[in-house]
Amino acid sequence: MFFFLRNYSSGAYKFLYPVPMETPRGIVILDFGGQYAHLIASRVRRSGVYAAILPPETPAKDLKDVAGIILSGGPQSVYDDGSPQADPKIFELGIPILGLCYGLHWMTNALGGEVKSGKVKEYGHTPIRTINGGGTLLQDCGDGCTVWMSHGDEAAVLPEGFELIATSDACKNAAFADESRKFFALQFHPEVTHTEHGNDILKRFIDLCDAEPWSIESYASHISEQIKEEVGDRKVFMLVSGGVDSSVAFTLLNKVLGVDRVQGLLVDTGLMRKGEVPYIQEAFQKLGITNLRVEDASEEFFANLKEVYDPEEKRRIIGETFLNVQKRVSEEMGLGTEDGWMLGQGTIYPDTIETGATKHADKIKTHHNRVEAVQKMIDEGLVIEPLKDLYKDEVRELGEEIGLPHELVWRHPFPGPGLGVRILCAEKEESNIAYQSSGVYKNDAVLPVKSVGVQGDGRTYRHTIAFFDSYSEEYRKLAVSIPNSSPEFNRVLICLSQSDIPEFVFTPGYLSPDRANLLREADAIVDEEMKKDENLYRLIWQFPVVLLPFGTSEGGQSIVLRPIESTDAMTANAADLPSDILQKMTERISAIDGIDLVFLDLTNKPPGTIEWE
Ligand code: XMP
Repeated sequence: MFFFLRNYSSGAYKFLYPVPMETPRGIVILDFGGQYAHLIASRVRRSGVYAAILPPETPAKDLKDVAGIILSGGPQSVYDDGSPQADPKIFELGIPILGLCYGLHWMTNALGGEVKSGKVKEYGHTPIRTINGGGTLLQDCGDGCTVWMSHGDEAAVLPEGFELIATSDACKNAAFADESRKFFALQFHPEVTHTEHGNDILKRFIDLCDAEPWSIESYASHISEQIKEEVGDRKVFMLVSGGVDSSVAFTLLNKVLGVDRVQGLLVDTGLMRKGEVPYIQEAFQKLGITNLRVEDASEEFFANLKEVYDPEEKRRIIGETFLNVQKRVSEEMGLGTEDGWMLGQGTIYPDTIETGATKHADKIKTHHNRVEAVQKMIDEGLVIEPLKDLYKDEVRELGEEIGLPHELVWRHPFPGPGLGVRILCAEKEESNIAYQSSGVYKNDAVLPVKSVGVQGDGRTYRHTIAFFDSYSEEYRKLAVSIPNSSPEFNRVLICLSQSDIPEFVFTPGYLSPDRANLLREADAIVDEEMKKDENLYRLIWQFPVVLLPFGTSEGGQSIVLRPIESTDAMTANAADLPSDILQKMTERISAIDGIDLVFLDLTNKPPGTIEWE
């Protein structure tokens, strides 16, 4: 049996996918605006049940066929003007409902209990004691189980029919349940890893829901049917970048529709990684996918980027050149929509569903799969996005399931403009800063370039400080404290290739073929060294290698290693790598003709961004 999720559209939310989707009977998360909606959904899915995120005001009648509802947390108080509200009729649907944090407050309020501002605000790890054996949900927890709390308000009076199932020192009503109606309310967050038994708690709730099983295999067969239906007798044209998402989507379309009804285009921008194009071609060829056209447009890209120094202008030119090439080739090949072609995209779930945490993200960056022209095509039913309901890990699983090589599927994410965002361009030296090596720190120097960072909701453009010393943990602490205390800095590095402060020689640099080649070599070394240890490769979420336009000799350049750990790129930690690996990379990169210095970036995001521009 399948249920339909409609195309919802409301003030704050805009659901971007206009075609009703059919999915197995699963769990709906009503998103009250917390940061955790995606986390809840992916946890539910990992337990084998489909989960979708919907806006809180979704009418109850549209939820009557779902197996259960989870009400997420949110940053507001239920008494705030305009605080998000759900439809109270959901309590009449006869399905299990779980309220978390703000979800608990809204539920309490809606069912006649009382919410008040807590005397003490609770944040972080908190021990709870179960009451009445913890009821169905907390039966694995026992006494003193640690949970993750983050709240100011709390339930003062429980709604009728509810019994307390857990308490904490600061929050008497930490969890309560109406077992007969299968309504549960938790003040804490079972979806975050800091909550002991968090998965067990969610699993116990899911077990109460009459859900259909969901797995990547069942998704693959379900989506195959849907692709056939949506495409009908048309054909699909798709841009392939070599990244995981577009590779998996392209392969899936080929498997379902056959090579004659799909056409791929890989635009070689000249900003690809070393050996990228033959690597991708070979991976597809091994699967019998021979319909990938490669268009070498590198000369056009470099010509358009000559003497361009501004980062945003660079991005704009890369995007525009890309569109021009794509347009030219598709015209040449007769791939227009009027000729019966649709556009395929590798968009994934977090990019299509705006949650409370991301619905304002357009201020920061519009996802390239959702620019206006593409949105218009989506509205006209001219776009197919077979991965639109999947999380990254699920895309990877699906990729392996349909035969893509393990190594390709587990690659680190790579930005659309490729090495273009990793070649720092500058026309003049940035050294006008009233800063002397203070003597407070040892062997510090201000680098002659600025880079982008992020603080609060805004971007910063500031100086970088670099230490010339042997590496120690101390410098990681300084990487946190310096940008906090000195507003002129947003990044802290340590030099790996020498411990004496040199005289920097700056050379104006734009995106030239020579600079791209230099970075490509350094990037290939890093990739090769990292892939020698698969576990380490997996621990690192992304590993930008950045080229800076200064060195110790005329025309000399520097390389920055930027290994980071992250889950969603919104925040990131500068990753610690074993010193022997760093040493090996440094030795090999330093041996490249034209590279004078090698640095390691120790800055978290915030205050640094992952990329440098
Ligand atoms: P930042 O530098 O903002 O990067 O911390 C966050 C994530 O976004 C990627 N990124 C891009 N991806 N086009 C893309 O497709 C871009 O222009 C772009 N800029 C940054 C970056 O690699 C990281 O994963």
